[in-house]
Amino acid sequence: MSTHKNPYAGRLGEFSGIAFDAAAASERKGVWREFFRGSMERGPERLVFEVGCSNAGFLASIAEANPDAAFVGIDWKFKVLFKGAKRVHGMGLKNVALLRGKAQEISRIFGEDELDEVWVFFPDPWAKKPQLKHRLIQEAFLLDCARVLKPGGRVFIKTDHPGYFQWMLALWGAPRPVLPAYDGPVPTERGMRAKQMLVRKPMDEDQLPNASAAVCARFEIVRQSIDYASLSAAELGTLFGGRDTLFEKGFREQKLPIYFLEVICTAKRSR
Ligand SMILES: C[S@@+](CC[C@H](N)C(=O)[O-])C[C@H]1O[C@@H](n2cnc3c(N)ncnc32)[C@H](O)[C@@H]1O
Repeated sequence: MSTHKNPYAGRLGEFSGIAFDAAAASERKGVWREFFRGSMERGPERLVFEVGCSNAGFLASIAEANPDAAFVGIDWKFKVLFKGAKRVHGMGLKNVALLRGKAQEISRIFGEDELDEVWVFFPDPWAKKPQLKHRLIQEAFLLDCARVLKPGGRVFIKTDHPGYFQWMLALWGAPRPVLPAYDGPVPTERGMRAKQMLVRKPMDEDQLPNASAAVCARFEIVRQSIDYASLSAAELGTLFGGRDTLFEKGFREQKLPIYFLEVICTAKRSR
């Protein structure tokens, strides 16, 4: 029985075949394909990990349309994950598992070369200076991604935050992106746009991380864009193209910029 205070912690057990605690998921490390083979007609052709899957609305719709691929979503929040598990169960999907935990655990959850793709869509921006250390996209996490991705595996990232986008590119030592102007007045009415305007700030040069030789040795940038909304599904050639996440819908409606980064794992270890 769960000893966690969150009322949804225990309730995840209602969907014990779908949702797990990330700590318990380490039992499936290296054998996720076998795990899915038990419920899917055949073993998955592709294994995708979605970070911050929230209520799994986005993941479930993609999983339904792609029955030959399997998807593992993770989120830190119990309630949204519970809702996600209920949804996956209700849709009768056999190719989705949900984990309650932190994405930083990735190398305890997956074995070497196990994943084809990692999706990180709208990670928390941790925009204030003392919070920057909490950002998910940093050297340690990317090196863990390289460990668990197959050679040729990819990481896809979307963010609405220009400073986070600059931060990511800085890890590769890429030139600073030319950003849309962010100096407009913050709308006086409360709402998503005003809230976003307060956190969406480009970063000062001295706050950006240094280029990481280890990250550059393992990953190459395939595509970067300051206007993800302009990329068609055909151009992207991914399972998620043409479908918006929950957060993304809001950004599109408000015509806020969405930044995109796609990197490919070219080497498993430092050259
Ligand atoms: C800004 S929301 C984006 C949700 C979804 N990806 C979307 O685009 O609609 C970020 C989500 O990531 C989850 N999250 C934040 N940090 C996390 C971490 N370290 N590991 C797992 N989930 C995390 C939050 O609980 C939240 O559901």
